Amino acid sequence: MVELLPSILSADFARLAEDVAAVERGGATVVHVDVMDGHFVPNITIGPPVVKSLRKATKLPLDCHLMIENPDQYVPAFADAGADWVSVHYEACRHLHRSLELIKSRSMKAGVVINPATRVDLLTDILPMVDFVLVMSVNPGFGGQKFIEFSLDKIRHLAELRQKLGLAFRIEVDGGVAHETVARIVQAGAELLVAGSAVFGAGRRCPRIAGGSAPRCQPRSGSCKQDFCKQGSLE
Ligand code: DX5
Ligand code: ZN
Repeated sequence: MVELLPSILSADFARLAEDVAAVERGGATVVHVDVMDGHFVPNITIGPPVVKSLRKATKLPLDCHLMIENPDQYVPAFADAGADWVSVHYEACRHLHRSLELIKSRSMKAGVVINPATRVDLLTDILPMVDFVLVMSVNPGFGGQKFIEFSLDKIRHLAELRQKLGLAFRIEVDGGVAHETVARIVQAGAELLVAGSAVFGAGRRCPRIAGGSAPRCQPRSGSCKQDFCKQGSLE
């Protein structure tokens, strides 16, 4: 099943609960939470306290994408805060098997993430123990970047490997997922689609899916031109 995971990186951090409630009403099934430490990536965002607050604001699963060095040190805090899915970067883990074991030991879904320059083949031995693989289709750190086209080959390669090995992990893609790219991404085999700016971005903010309370937005099928939103009208 193809699912949309709005990335709150592009939401309004001063009204996160409202924005998350709005995407939930708009049909989102999982909330993607981008955690950045200013070391692994050149940006800083949020950590376990915000996840703890989000946990009270929504029943949707929280997918915590850890773009941080030494993730093992923080996995327990994310578990305690209420994270449901946790993914760690191949490039940030000295002992990836141990990191994945740690996530699973706290009953969370475990994912591994690869940057655009990291080969899919490097994951072969670890694939049997992951619930999902996240293919970065931009270099991590910022929303609103251009989709890197060769990510499609990586998604196809992963889907082939999954079939060849008889595994059931899911394929997630993150970065540049938008109206122009989404069809090709799904055709390549991804089913968990992270989208930040396409859902919340400036100038494209849909009152129904991203703002929630705008009176102009009526639930009328088929008339909304915003990405992913087929339920509202912006008249
Ligand atoms: C980037 C983050 C993404 C980001 C995607 O490092 O991991 O989740 O929010 O943003 P868009 O959808 O704008 O490319
Ligand atoms: Zn992300």
